[in-house]
Amino acid sequence: MIRVAVLASGRGSNLQALLDAAAAGQIEAQVTLVISDNPQARALERARRHGVEAVVVPRAAFPSREAMEDHIAGLIEARNIDLIVLAGYMRLLGKKFVERFYGRIINIHPSLLPAFPGLEAQRQALEYGVKITGCTVHFVDAGMDTGPIILQAAVPVEENDTVETLAARILEQEHRLLPAAVQLFAAGRLVLEGRRVKILTGAEGREAGR
Ligand code: GRF
Repeated sequence: MIRVAVLASGRGSNLQALLDAAAAGQIEAQVTLVISDNPQARALERARRHGVEAVVVPRAAFPSREAMEDHIAGLIEARNIDLIVLAGYMRLLGKKFVERFYGRIINIHPSLLPAFPGLEAQRQALEYGVKITGCTVHFVDAGMDTGPIILQAAVPVEENDTVETLAARILEQEHRLLPAAVQLFAAGRLVLEGRRVKILTGAEGREAGR
């Protein structure tokens, strides 16, 4: 069973998907820490309801982003966290933090990367006019949504889609994709090879874990 920390700034529906998957025994992972930069984040409430430690780390309490991230790193290391999941964490992580945990931080993004990185990916896709978009789980590097891709799911854009209807259909896929990626990591099935992520079979993953 791996120990997971989730960083979230808002609603926390992807956090909820992980909490539910863990409670249902669908993933060999336990969310043991939730950190938010936003004291109002619903993610905090969801964590507490599941008996998960929830900590607010407001940017304003620190002289710099680096100081804030050093504090977050300290919380994570003190709790023997195996995997850090960014689930709607609305801040870019600095190079120092990313290097410290490289290969152990993943993010969920609501587009088929490398298309439409950054904010409002669903609106960007709709306005661009693509017929297919989706979501991506990737390892985090110091860029904006640029790290090695683990899993992607496609979602067709429908004729009458608004940003809201499209975002809702993408979100359904996010809630499936994120627990799936966490499980692959937990089972030792992800191998980072430069920009590519190799996905081992279950047997290969167990062998590699020995
Ligand atoms: C999701 O669309 C995720 O892909 C993006 O931010 C949103 C977070 O939603 N990074 P929630 O807080 O998990 O409900």
